[in-house]
Amino acid sequence: MIESIAAIRAQAQDFTITDKATLEAYRLEFIARNGVINDLFAKFKLVPNDQKKAIGAALNELKQYLEARFKEAQDHLERSVSPVAAPIDLTLPVVPETLGSRHPINIIREKITRIFAQIGFAVADGPEIEDDWHNFGALNFPPNHPARDMQDTFFVQQDPAMLLRTHTSSVQIRLMEKSPMPVRAIMPGRVYRNEAISARAHCLFHQIEGIYIDKGVSFADLKQTLYYFVKELFGSDIKIRFRASYFPFTEPSAEMDITCLICKGEGCNICKQTGWVEILGSGMVHPEVIKNCGHDPEVYTGFAFGMGIERISMLLYDVKDLRLYTENDVRFLRQFAHLAH
Ligand code: DAH
Repeated sequence: MIESIAAIRAQAQDFTITDKATLEAYRLEFIARNGVINDLFAKFKLVPNDQKKAIGAALNELKQYLEARFKEAQDHLERSVSPVAAPIDLTLPVVPETLGSRHPINIIREKITRIFAQIGFAVADGPEIEDDWHNFGALNFPPNHPARDMQDTFFVQQDPAMLLRTHTSSVQIRLMEKSPMPVRAIMPGRVYRNEAISARAHCLFHQIEGIYIDKGVSFADLKQTLYYFVKELFGSDIKIRFRASYFPFTEPSAEMDITCLICKGEGCNICKQTGWVEILGSGMVHPEVIKNCGHDPEVYTGFAFGMGIERISMLLYDVKDLRLYTENDVRFLRQFAHLAH
């Protein structure tokens, strides 16, 4: 009997418990109702009286050991359950992932680029830091023109003058200088002016310039091209009108208005009760400008136009403060997420 007790203790000691299944196997083997320990207690009845005391003590000690070993293994298993292994509830709703959004300036720039691409306009670009010739001189600005004033232009260097371009018209010059005729392109880009920042003005904004020069291009082509553009961007019931204007680089020059999108031409605060809002400047490219770029204005004629992207985006998306475009407040930007995906 004493030998059996020692053997069982050794067995229990060697029994490896690694998980719930082996723990249960241990329980059934040693301490369950039909386990080894109860067998021994059954046999204990047959032990002669003079040995009962010693064997009884050994048996009790074995029982305590077997139970203690069980308890210890059970505690250990419970403590080592890893949180990763927690059951996953596949029926729970997914946590929605927040998507980024395209900036409204980019959305409009791409819309406009696509509209002009459909009628054969390529996309060109040029540097934001310009010399005086490309930003002013070649565009026919007289030397003492007020636009060259420090009040408007950010100069990077005085002599020779280097500046942050004040409009994308500088890219017209760069394009015509390097291209054989004909040219037909739009030129989106960032421009800079020395203005105090407010709801209606900023020192940094975006323009899209357009140019088409070929043999026999007329004002009728200008009008028809811009009419097509406006209908594509704003819808087919939008009307346009031209107002005579002045730019040094075009002759004749015209500013173009469209039906006010807010009041549909009825008259409101936005259009100052006129029913019209201005969206771009345009004109027939001045013969001097064509000549400045190395082409013959007797052979080639064409038109150009320039518009502010912020302004168009404000009209289309009803944005009332220019500063919103550069503040990057996600509450503003998120509103455009559905347009970009
Ligand atoms: N450069 C002008 C501006 O910044 C816009 C403009 C007017 C561009 C007439 C043109 C044009 O190409 O023909 O206000």
